[in-house]
Amino acid sequence: MKFATTRLAAAVGVSLTLGLASLTAHAAPMIIKFSHVVAEATPKGQGALKFKELAEAALPGQVEVQVFSNSQLFGDGKEMEAVLLGDVQFIAPSLAKFDRYTKKVQIFDLPFLFDDMAALDRFQASPAGQSLLDSMKSKGIQGLAYWHNGLKQMSTNQDKLTRPEDVKGLKFRIQSSDVLEAQFRQLGANPQKLAFAEVYQALQTGVVDGAENPWSNIYSQKFHEVQKTIAVTNHGALDYMVVTNSAWWDGLPDDIRDGLQKAMAGATEHANKLAAEINDRDRKRIAEAGKAKIQTLTKEDIAAWRTAMHPVWEKFQDGIGKDLIDAAVASNQPS
Ligand code: SIN
Repeated sequence: MKFATTRLAAAVGVSLTLGLASLTAHAAPMIIKFSHVVAEATPKGQGALKFKELAEAALPGQVEVQVFSNSQLFGDGKEMEAVLLGDVQFIAPSLAKFDRYTKKVQIFDLPFLFDDMAALDRFQASPAGQSLLDSMKSKGIQGLAYWHNGLKQMSTNQDKLTRPEDVKGLKFRIQSSDVLEAQFRQLGANPQKLAFAEVYQALQTGVVDGAENPWSNIYSQKFHEVQKTIAVTNHGALDYMVVTNSAWWDGLPDDIRDGLQKAMAGATEHANKLAAEINDRDRKRIAEAGKAKIQTLTKEDIAAWRTAMHPVWEKFQDGIGKDLIDAAVASNQPS
């Protein structure tokens, strides 16, 4: 009996050991979800796919990155909450969508702050820009990288769109940003905060008359098919911050966090290299489609838009901080 018990114990031990070994050998990879609201053929869509490729190559069998585009998993209203609840690990909202978490990031919405994408890039890379990645830590959100999209263009369902007075009284869809709300009020227009997934229908049905977005979003969401005129205003930037849940991120094993960090650096470089190319391509595609007219503006037109929108800076200066605004303005000068 003793012999049988010993043999049984040994057999259980062996099978437990084998079981554990095979469990270790076939341990399921950690599932990491990356959710966003735009199409795959956009800078952010391409960045997310690159992150998946690089993360899975750096951590083979250890992580599986699942990318959900086009608000399939979470739309604008829900994605930050989903990160905080741990339902998704990475999102990359437009910088206009962090209003509720920090006033500092409102800086990116100030109209005509950056002369071009190179200036924006310099600011993001500067110590002031990098410090904003940590500005929501107390709310449980860690910023990991900035990803570019491009400068925004104003579009409406009207034939004439060259001067600020042309948008007076029109309804505009805006992102959930108080700065953008103030920008359109300054122009005498009526802003309405709407989720990105609702914009096409709102433009099509006349719930709103106009919107503002970079070429890649206009083309990939077919906004040009439901707008008459797109003016080349380049009046503000639409870029992203890739964010995660800070407790989850800090709690990762070091090797996994390092691998993901390297993959994020590679994906950032990839997305930022592609952004200008994709926006140029999509501007051409919109012109070729021949649905909306692309209205180029004179220097005098642009100066009129700039003057009309500038009072917005003053309104948000205290919340953002004058030092930060000065640092952003300085980034317009290449060093
Ligand atoms: C995005 O590019 O993520 C969406 C921007 C928008 O809501 O207009």
